[in-house]
Amino acid sequence: MPAKRLRSQDWFDSLEYYSFARRAYLRSEGITREAFHGKPVIGICNSWSELNHCNLHLRTVAEAVKRGVWQAGGVPFEFPTISLGEVFMRPTTMLFRNLMAMDVEESIRANPLDGVVLLCGCDKTTPAQLMGAASVDLPSIFVTAGPMLSGHYKGQDIGSGTDMRKIFDLYRAGEMSDEELCEFEGCAARSHGHCMVMGTASTMTSIAEALGMTLPGCASIPAPDSRRLAIAELSGRRIVEMIDQELRPSQIMTREAFENAITVEMALGGSTNAVVHLIAIAGRLGLTLTLEDFHRISKRTPYIANVRPSGQYLMEDFFYAGGLPVVMRELLPLLHTSCRTVNGGTIQKNYESAECWNRDVIRTLREPLNAEGGTLILYGNLAPDGAVIKHTAASPDLLKHRGPAYVFDDHHHMLEDLMRDDLPVDENTVLVLKNGGPHGGPGFPEWGHIPMPKKLLQRGIKDMVRISDARMSGTSFGTVVLHIAPESAIGGPLAAVRTGDEIVLDAENRRIDVALPPEEIESRLRSFVRPKPHYGRGYGKLFLEHVTQANLGCDFDFLQALE
Ligand code: FES
Repeated sequence: MPAKRLRSQDWFDSLEYYSFARRAYLRSEGITREAFHGKPVIGICNSWSELNHCNLHLRTVAEAVKRGVWQAGGVPFEFPTISLGEVFMRPTTMLFRNLMAMDVEESIRANPLDGVVLLCGCDKTTPAQLMGAASVDLPSIFVTAGPMLSGHYKGQDIGSGTDMRKIFDLYRAGEMSDEELCEFEGCAARSHGHCMVMGTASTMTSIAEALGMTLPGCASIPAPDSRRLAIAELSGRRIVEMIDQELRPSQIMTREAFENAITVEMALGGSTNAVVHLIAIAGRLGLTLTLEDFHRISKRTPYIANVRPSGQYLMEDFFYAGGLPVVMRELLPLLHTSCRTVNGGTIQKNYESAECWNRDVIRTLREPLNAEGGTLILYGNLAPDGAVIKHTAASPDLLKHRGPAYVFDDHHHMLEDLMRDDLPVDENTVLVLKNGGPHGGPGFPEWGHIPMPKKLLQRGIKDMVRISDARMSGTSFGTVVLHIAPESAIGGPLAAVRTGDEIVLDAENRRIDVALPPEEIESRLRSFVRPKPHYGRGYGKLFLEHVTQANLGCDFDFLQALE
């Protein structure tokens, strides 16, 4: 029994009536006083849901965590939070990331817990849990869901999202039948687990590990692999020790740890969504990350993980090549190696002996896939507060481009227009989508990967420059400028763009501009009328009143750490 008084003892071990009542009511679960008296109480914060296929196996993972907790002398209590199923929720899971973070934070704080094991996987569940755990700052360890097995169709490997989009473009172009599409549907998602490209889920679970919040090696283990349950059991054992050592998220997720996480994100060619999430998580700890931090680290970090959508392979191949530990080992010269992690070891100690089994999947720093990281930060008269482009997943010949804008004000109408045979666009056109930001979407949806116009697909054209104030799925690809801030719906300069204006993308010089004189932009913005808010009540109203812009992480202003 630990010598010091545990937080949970305030609930169970005092002379007040409710202490007695809590013990009595726990008997309704068949739990006797001896089972928990004086023992660390571990919450298992579970984002399992049948409406979130990526996290569907987390009840089984929770059982493995419980085994570990019992073995180490703790008492586990599994509890649910809301879950955010990426492809099911409307208008977008991003609208609810902060709600889930609040749920996680308050569920932990309000209950008799000494430490927490957090189970996450699908895109927003990982950042939401990191944000919540950071704000409470009780000892915490993450067990991620793991990627699903590789998809296979007609002898080809199929990556979630990335290849599904390519296949659907073939279907839209009339090159695939209904029967083939139906057959493909059965081949893409073969197991539980999150998307198995380096999309947002794989990026954010890798970032959780790079921050030091999982046991080493956790992020890359495929969801159905028995080693996932083994690492869950180990995590259950470890959280009990962490309570004794009083090892808290604020001691692990330091400024240096965030710089490590950005370095890893760049080396992975990870999702652009990580930019928004990392800024928000850091804000919960009173740390300020800026887009310039991402730019500075991107410039010095080679891209080495050959995984789709930027690369060639899938997460299962990445795991067999050694997974994230090999990337971390390669990056040691660029990392803050003395950062502590949840296992009590440093980044140096945890990863220095990782071995690579396939150099085509994970490259060395000397022979990278690209000399710089996967995400570029852009500025310009269209994005005074910044924008992002995943240049490793873009067409190199389009990274310097000038072309006439074709503007969509509304996502829904855009999808209809893109099917028109008479849409007045060609491969030089720059497609512009407004009203896709935090206020405009609402909720900052993944609309930024504007589908290719059908008439261009039929001519075999697969990419063109597309710009918006929306996000895009981490599984997406193409020459797509995103996160333009400030967003158009609150009167950012994107609101001034009209069809026919010349748009200039110059990725090398980090610029995204409209070729208009400043006075013309100002004149147009003076007549800008802000759209009617999407919500007049409820959570949506709270969101619109308090969400920050993309460059500030889109957290609620009142959830950031107090000075
Ligand atoms: Fe959950 Fe892709 S749908 S990670």
